[in-house]
Amino acid sequence: MSNLNHPLHTQYDAIADALAGPGFIILDGAFSAQLAQDLVALIGSKEVQLKRAGIGRADNFQLNDSVRGDVIEWLEPGAAAVTEFLSAMDKLREALNQRLFLGLCEYEAHFACYKPGAFYAKHRDAFRGKPGRKVSSVFYLNPDWDFAAGGELVLYDEAGSTELFRLAPECGRLVLFLSENFPHEVLPASRQRQSIAGWFRVKP
Ligand code: OGA
Ligand code: MN
Repeated sequence: MSNLNHPLHTQYDAIADALAGPGFIILDGAFSAQLAQDLVALIGSKEVQLKRAGIGRADNFQLNDSVRGDVIEWLEPGAAAVTEFLSAMDKLREALNQRLFLGLCEYEAHFACYKPGAFYAKHRDAFRGKPGRKVSSVFYLNPDWDFAAGGELVLYDEAGSTELFRLAPECGRLVLFLSENFPHEVLPASRQRQSIAGWFRVKP
């Protein structure tokens, strides 16, 4: 299921096939270890000012502490690592449009940090037939993640009843899935859990 050390640009066909098929894909090594390391350094630095999630975005419909415990900051081009990440994801956006005719017009993403014990209850990133988020992405930024620490992403089938997979948030791992098709949740972890969550969107 995961492809080790195959840069993102060599994975476009595999990603398109996976999204058109099962609807999700897990990639390890799609970004260089250096880029992952630079993003880890950035999220831990003063340049990134994480705030409670859910304020100021019309489609961010879950604001409740009991639903979602992460702090976030939206990515803007600026720092070299962020610019490189966003530009790679934008090329993926174009590649997916060419292969799947999705009409994705933008990619938005935020750094997210879950303190120990924080979680994100089972939710959907988008609702079927509504404009907005079509493909979800999460890129994990946790070097030396210990499996015993928890913090997995759990993806469920459309009905939300059957677990499809449980994914440890290991540094360098990228997961992509169709936003409308998969309820999912973030389990609490015993240590801090960091990531970049992002969404490819269509125009409203
Ligand atoms: C989200 C989300 C999953 C993860 O931010 O909407 O579901 O593994 N994140 O961090
Ligand atoms: Mn989500």
